[in-house]
Amino acid sequence: MPRTVRTRVVIVGAGPAGLLLSHLLADAGVESVVLDRRSRSDIESTIRAGILEQETVRVLHESGASERVLTTGNRHDGIELRFDGEGHRIDFPSLVGRSVWLYPQHEVLKDLIAARLAAGQDLRFETEVNSVGDVETEHPWVTATTADGDELRIDADFVVGADGSRSVVRPTVAGPSTGNYFREYPFAWFGILCEAPPSSEELIYSNSPDGFALISQRSATVQRMYFQCDPAANPDALSEAEIWDTLQARVPGTSLATGQIVQRDVLRFRSFVARELRHGRSVLVGDAAHTVPPTGAKGMNLAVADVVLLDCALRALLLENDARLIDTFAETALKRIWKAQHFSWWMTSMLHTAVDASPFDQRRQVGELRSVVESEAGRTFLAEAYTGWPHEG
Ligand code: PHB
Repeated sequence: MPRTVRTRVVIVGAGPAGLLLSHLLADAGVESVVLDRRSRSDIESTIRAGILEQETVRVLHESGASERVLTTGNRHDGIELRFDGEGHRIDFPSLVGRSVWLYPQHEVLKDLIAARLAAGQDLRFETEVNSVGDVETEHPWVTATTADGDELRIDADFVVGADGSRSVVRPTVAGPSTGNYFREYPFAWFGILCEAPPSSEELIYSNSPDGFALISQRSATVQRMYFQCDPAANPDALSEAEIWDTLQARVPGTSLATGQIVQRDVLRFRSFVARELRHGRSVLVGDAAHTVPPTGAKGMNLAVADVVLLDCALRALLLENDARLIDTFAETALKRIWKAQHFSWWMTSMLHTAVDASPFDQRRQVGELRSVVESEAGRTFLAEAYTGWPHEG
């Protein structure tokens, strides 16, 4: 017989979405259990994106989930789009009165895990969920296997799938994968972490005839950079010198500060939205519900927006027996999700070079970039989306 635990909300996945949800629910007195198949150190050390929207920062800070986002994170008031040999700055505060923060996702995770453990959250690492059931009733459950091989059953009032792009909760909520919305791209990013000072004060998104490059940052001594590559590329196939030559050729006009490359990876691009986000007393949030290509850094920000909405809906349902917000959760969340899908697709297609691009396509792309940077309306559109639309809920 499995050991049975009883809680109000069982949250599968201790990523930003799952941990933030447990944190916000606890504030309203709603108890939860969070399960993750990964270890704490894996979660805290996986390198992900680094840009937080202003509203994401506000939620993390005001809820007490992260102090460090403001003390260690860096505010960025703009980005540069570079093409056709010239840089063009998009100044966020003057266009939309907002900014973004550079604060890596694994730092957000460290803060959230520390805050949840300090508050006594039931948070179980290395615990793999096997099945989800009875979500059409008021008493759904999940079963899981712990690191020691023990079987566990968690009875709850609600099940949340916050378990990333390979979600085990997703089939219960969304049905067969054939019904989902999906797009693949013919390119990927070759990403590096290197020990060097910043090469530029702000992020540079560069379209060049050889392909896209992004010069991002992590700290005064560690930088993150990416260049467009073939999705089948082997991250170990290039020498450090070849990596620097490739990056440098794609940001003409900036002399990159180089240094030892301490990590390298190839990130594949996908756009994905699950057909259904809610089924009875189960929902999907974050990457379990949707994936965006990384251009524009919407992934984690979208997860936080889902969670803010779901927190309100679960409080109303579980504390006041009011189902109105949970009944409109999917419809409301999907409006922002599809805007972010569009923005991520648009930034990706505008900035990357398609393998089969004709000279016409290349010139059309530069024309598109020029229409954006030379028009206040164009710059404002980009700045609104990049810094993040207001949250619902
Ligand atoms: C990053 O720093 O990892 C990063 C920044 C901006 C993006 C994507 C990734 O659009």
